[in-house]
Amino acid sequence: MKKSLSLLLIGLLILGLVAVSGCTDKAATAGTDETESQMPVYVVGTEPYFPPFQYADENNNNEIIGFDIDLINAIAADQGFQVTWKDLGFDALIPALQSGQIDIIASGMTITEAREESVDFTNPYINAGLALAVAANNNQIQSIDDIQGKVAVVQQGSTGAAKADELKSEGVITDIIYLPHVSDIVMSIQNGRGDFMINDLPVTNAFISHNPGVIKIVDDKIQSESYGFAVRNGNTELLNMLNEGLANVQADGTYDQIMDKYF
Ligand code: ARG
Repeated sequence: MKKSLSLLLIGLLILGLVAVSGCTDKAATAGTDETESQMPVYVVGTEPYFPPFQYADENNNNEIIGFDIDLINAIAADQGFQVTWKDLGFDALIPALQSGQIDIIASGMTITEAREESVDFTNPYINAGLALAVAANNNQIQSIDDIQGKVAVVQQGSTGAAKADELKSEGVITDIIYLPHVSDIVMSIQNGRGDFMINDLPVTNAFISHNPGVIKIVDDKIQSESYGFAVRNGNTELLNMLNEGLANVQADGTYDQIMDKYF
């Protein structure tokens, strides 16, 4: 009886030690978490229907992936901050930045003078111009000279939309259809609601290579543009981090790896 009691005590002692060492392990992990949790977390807004810059990974729970995502993640790792992603309409991004709902825009956004008035852009991170595309079976529009009296389809709030507005106010085209996503634009070209689309060349190219025979490009440079990440006006601290991180990942080869992955 006495013997079994002491065995029980030894057993309890061992259990106690295991529990204590378990706690120590936990404490160590908590330490790592703490360093991570001390990192600033920035909310990045994006309209994730714009491959290859930002889009849902169908093979992985529709997680957002893409060139901009990898680039921001690389910059964040370089500069010691963390990010969370927020899915917004493209035309909702600048208002969301201004109201403080998000801290960074990473959404294939072109640096324009008009936008510079409401946000601050980083240095350009890629060049991407606007292209004009039509349905694959459209033989009427063979260049930008053939769009007189036609209907444009564009993504609302985009530079493609601004270009279409310009063409309409010059009296070149008669109407414009504004839609939320590039996939909607393509569909309305396909079903004949609109005659042509104006959209970013790399995105239109990516669509064509994944869906051959639907649309074709008739002019691949109606405007040249560069993308930048945007922060709130006057948020110099974050702007400097993004620019510094961008320069570092461009210098150490990470940028080129991301380029090779998506293009
Ligand atoms: N580059 C164009 C612009 O700034 C279109 C960008 C659209 N981006 C997106 N994620 N839908 O207006």
